Amino acid sequence: MITFNKETKIFNLSTKNTSYVFGVYADKFLMHIYWGKKIREITSYKPAMTFHARTFSPVEAELYKTEAGSCDNNTMEYPTYGSGDLRHPALNIRFFDGSTTTRLEYVSHKIIKGKPALCGLPSTYVENDNEADTLELEMKDSLTGLTVFLTYTAFNEIDAITRSVRVVNNGNANMNISHILSASVDFEGKDFEFMHLEGTWLRERAVSRSKLYHGTQSIESRRGASSSAHNPFFALLSPNATETTGDVYGFNLVYSGNFLAGTEVDAFDVTRAFIGINPFNFNYLLEPGQSFQAPEAVLVYSDNGIGQMSRTYHKLYRTRLCRGKFRDIERYCLVNNWEGTGMDFTEEKILEIARTAANVGLDMLVLDDGWFGKRNNDWCALGDWYVNYDKLPSGIDGLAEKIEAMGLKFGLWFEPEMVSPDSDLYRAHPEWALHVNNRPLSLGRNQLMLDLSREDVCDFVYHSVADILKTAKISYVKWDYNRNMSEIGSDLLPPERQGEVAHRYILGLYSVLERLVNEFPDILFESCSSGGGRYDPGMLYYMPQTWVSDCTDAGERMALQYGTSIVYPCSSMGAHVSAVHEGAVRNISYKTRGDVATMGQFGYELVMSELSEADLALTKQQIKRYKEYGEVFHKGDMYRINSPYESEKSTFEFISEDKNTVILCHFAKTVHPNAAIYRIKMQGLEADADYVEIKSDNEPTSTDLTYGGDFLMNVGLEQKDAGDYSTSVRIFRKKI
Ligand code: DGJ
Repeated sequence: MITFNKETKIFNLSTKNTSYVFGVYADKFLMHIYWGKKIREITSYKPAMTFHARTFSPVEAELYKTEAGSCDNNTMEYPTYGSGDLRHPALNIRFFDGSTTTRLEYVSHKIIKGKPALCGLPSTYVENDNEADTLELEMKDSLTGLTVFLTYTAFNEIDAITRSVRVVNNGNANMNISHILSASVDFEGKDFEFMHLEGTWLRERAVSRSKLYHGTQSIESRRGASSSAHNPFFALLSPNATETTGDVYGFNLVYSGNFLAGTEVDAFDVTRAFIGINPFNFNYLLEPGQSFQAPEAVLVYSDNGIGQMSRTYHKLYRTRLCRGKFRDIERYCLVNNWEGTGMDFTEEKILEIARTAANVGLDMLVLDDGWFGKRNNDWCALGDWYVNYDKLPSGIDGLAEKIEAMGLKFGLWFEPEMVSPDSDLYRAHPEWALHVNNRPLSLGRNQLMLDLSREDVCDFVYHSVADILKTAKISYVKWDYNRNMSEIGSDLLPPERQGEVAHRYILGLYSVLERLVNEFPDILFESCSSGGGRYDPGMLYYMPQTWVSDCTDAGERMALQYGTSIVYPCSSMGAHVSAVHEGAVRNISYKTRGDVATMGQFGYELVMSELSEADLALTKQQIKRYKEYGEVFHKGDMYRINSPYESEKSTFEFISEDKNTVILCHFAKTVHPNAAIYRIKMQGLEADADYVEIKSDNEPTSTDLTYGGDFLMNVGLEQKDAGDYSTSVRIFRKKI
């Protein structure tokens, strides 16, 4: 709900358990007043005034005689640079005369039911206007004609507030946006820890925490993609916040390109937190009449620790970010040939894998890289999206039919944003690759990136995929992306617009994806970027799942899935059992590999026909269990009981939507002889209810054990680990 008090000019945005409050001070300036646990209406600006005796801060002319004084001394709602606030600005514009002072004044606002979509960008949504209120505030820089629309949505039942910003040039002269963040929030105090998810290829989204210090602390991407180096997410935690205790303020950007997120703590311990498009190398020209839409930021507050923040993000993203028919249904349990065969396959080999897949009860076979052009290695053929008949004599359509005849669905890999220098496409259209004239091109995985800031290239990319999807029975697309940007330039944009290329690329990508998902609503799309190099809410809007990582070592996956789950739901995590390859970090049992993958979108990535009888039998059991309980992992609430980053154990608990089924997935890294008793204290159960642990995969029997919810949460369940990298998946049913 959003209310506006006409006397105080204060907006109160409230979700079920949280409040976000700011107001129009002195009828002009937006001051931030409060964000946190739900409270009654605030009618004073006092909490926004953070000064005792600050000096050196210039005072904006209109504020000179007010109680507030300089903007530098107050908690501001959407700070600009040049009129007194000397901290990190949310917006910075260079005007036609070269000046960079932006002074925004309140013009008007409207509060509407529901949530409008963002033009050209992914965003969360509502299905019914009663689910949320939206506030649109108009601000103006009267000297230049710059108009800024700040949009806020408060969801009623989900504790999330979204923010976005649109600027319009209503003046007569050009202006350049050099800096446009989506959200900025000032907090009194600096007693926070900065939590974020960092990593690289094979080690994505590791949880990192550090104390806030004076000055600026930030994470960012300059890679052209959200990247595996830093996820576009951070949270401020009260000191020593845990999974179940403490204040947590989460910030996440619904964007797949360059971002900046961070904090600035000033000398008076005021913390400014911000997130948005990275200003580095970004410069957007706005001609008179033109507008610019910045991406959406999703802000989540929890007063019950990190776990509650995660569950809020999970629910919002599962139900109001992901779209299409695959949002709500259980998806395909698949086998992908990549880790089994690489590009070295024949039609017969693929059919052999498919036959075993059908026998063990899988739903789909996915053919990965290597089916097109002369693609026998990763030096060539990206862009040549026509089938290689030497490898696949029946073509993609013929192969798909044969696989369908076995009772399986068929899925196909694409990497449509790329071009190999050794390809017919590059020979015909070298200018379609991102490039800077006369500079040598840098290769990444031996390939170049197509210039998706161009409409003609976007059209080509769309047709590369759509034309194949139209000719064969394809039920799933794996959309890969395996390098980051370099030599960022585009032939079709004038010099003064070259600073727009990286952002226009993302807009181009989104436009292609929008066309494809609308045209092929019955196809499931999965995003991949050498694993999780573009695991962000922007991509989840188009594709409800992402391949977590190219690392399928079950020991590493425990941590990878844990880190990913800080923001993203298990329903979005592609997770497969693969063979243990030569050179793998460790040789982990097939059972453990299956147990670790089971909480994600489950599948296999190996030559199934080479599995032993015992592993095949286990595979059947894993698939049966997954089909029976997949919904609990994907639609239920997740509780992280202990962290692989902090201990040798890692336990996830899932409670089904109807609260009747509970699953504990426990992983032990290292075990010790004669070790102390270890108990798992469960969370989120009904204290007065009884829960039966099911010994078999079926219904409770007389030998099953019954525990009280209060016992499980307070005394805890004894857990005996079978050995290093052992797992257990324990299932409980509530007695009704
Ligand atoms: C990188 C992906 O992460 C892998 O799963 C596989 O699809 C390869 N690309 C294919 O080149």
